[in-house]
Amino acid sequence: SNKRKLIAGNWKMNGSLAFNEALVTGIHEGLARAIPQCDVAVCPPAPYLQQVRSLLEQGGAVELGAQDLSMHDSGAYTGEVSAAMLRDFAVRYVIVGHSERRSYHGETDTHVAIKVQKALAAGLTPIVCVGETLAQREAGLTEVAVKQQLAAVIHLNGHCISEIVVAYEPVWAIGTGRTASPEQAQEVHAVLRAQLRAASERADRIRILYGGSMNAANAAALLAQPDIDGGLIGGASLKVPDFLSIIAAAG
Ligand code: G3H
Repeated sequence: SNKRKLIAGNWKMNGSLAFNEALVTGIHEGLARAIPQCDVAVCPPAPYLQQVRSLLEQGGAVELGAQDLSMHDSGAYTGEVSAAMLRDFAVRYVIVGHSERRSYHGETDTHVAIKVQKALAAGLTPIVCVGETLAQREAGLTEVAVKQQLAAVIHLNGHCISEIVVAYEPVWAIGTGRTASPEQAQEVHAVLRAQLRAASERADRIRILYGGSMNAANAAALLAQPDIDGGLIGGASLKVPDFLSIIAAAG
């Protein structure tokens, strides 16, 4: 596709002040040598948003993302971080409904839809994650599973969904070293694209990222697919050369 691709690093619960500084510095040095032809973002754990924001201001065009947000605006919600708080720290993107949130923290499709609404209302770009489990894929339920997850977001957010980013992350491919083949991924991306088109006239501008063991070796073939508009990178986003290779593959 002719959209500018997005490569987003999801650091998950990794990093430290020293590690983050080395990682961002390394990314900046690499991007200064080879100007990226895609958008790039990093999503550190919430306590490090301020640190990474200040590191990013010193360098190039890498944008800041968060890994989650609250479905509430403010108040007695111990441990939660609101959309407005993220905005205060110049956050541009926020991952919503990652499978790790869904499976370890009980996030439902309804929670995810509300979080997307809160993110959009605050001017954040939600990166909405959908994906089937291995059992669902083996039962032939991949399409049903991802469409149901996205339908909840569309139902609550209507035409505003033209402002979201979608990430297709097959659960069986996350952190396993087992990547969806480019054809397997494209097949699901095409399903999601059709669902978005049915909901919004501006669906073609929505970027649909692939995530799940994307790395320096497999990124180019995945990113060459017509409906794969970028990547949501876990493990490989913690290694400077690997992350830079994926960014280069998106150019
Ligand atoms: O958000 C990122 C995905 O969960 C992919 O993680 O690249 O470590 O498989 P991974």
